[in-house]
Amino acid sequence: MIKIAPSLLAADFTALGRDIKEVEQAGADYLHIDVMDGIFVPNISIGIPVVKAIRGITDLVLDVHLMITRPVRYVDAFIDAGADIVVFHLEADEPQNIQAAIDKVKARKKRVGLSLKPKTPASTLIPYIDQLDLILVMTVEPGFGGQAFMADQLDKIREISAMLLAHNPACELEVDGGIDPKTAPLVIEAGGQVLVAGNAIFKETDRAAVIAALREV
Ligand code: DX5
Ligand code: ZN
Repeated sequence: MIKIAPSLLAADFTALGRDIKEVEQAGADYLHIDVMDGIFVPNISIGIPVVKAIRGITDLVLDVHLMITRPVRYVDAFIDAGADIVVFHLEADEPQNIQAAIDKVKARKKRVGLSLKPKTPASTLIPYIDQLDLILVMTVEPGFGGQAFMADQLDKIREISAMLLAHNPACELEVDGGIDPKTAPLVIEAGGQVLVAGNAIFKETDRAAVIAALREV
């Protein structure tokens, strides 16, 4: 079953509670929360207090996508705030610190994910693959919503899907960036299992219809 993770970045920030309740009722599986530090990516979005406030109003699985440098510094704080899945970027630190961040999430018994920017090859996952609960493939350059889907990432999705089948079949393969009812079937066909969608969901009034359409191949 394909899971849908609406990306809060495209919600109405003056009415976050309302928008979250709407996607919850519309059948969302996860709530995708994009955290940006202005260093790892050229944008600043939302942080720990907002995650904490969201945790207080929803039981949706909080899928927190950290686009921040040296994520090991903040893993515990986001878990304290209510993150269920903590995802950070392989490119955001040296391997020993990435491993330390993975260990921290596991010690807290939360799900851990690693994300790859478009130019980062699948092979970089090899040292970590058997430890992960989720892999997040970016199909746009991280930093902004509303960008065009990069179809050249489909081969990487296929490659990682095959790696997971061989080494860690329980790990979910999530895809993020430019996903709408037109690009979703390509992602699903390539092996994507969790689809993040910001603009495609929040810019439409009938969110249940979009979420249903995104699941269709
Ligand atoms: C981009 C974020 C995405 C973004 C997706 O850095 O990681 O989650 O919100 O937005 P859409 O679906 O509008 O491309
Ligand atoms: Zn994201």
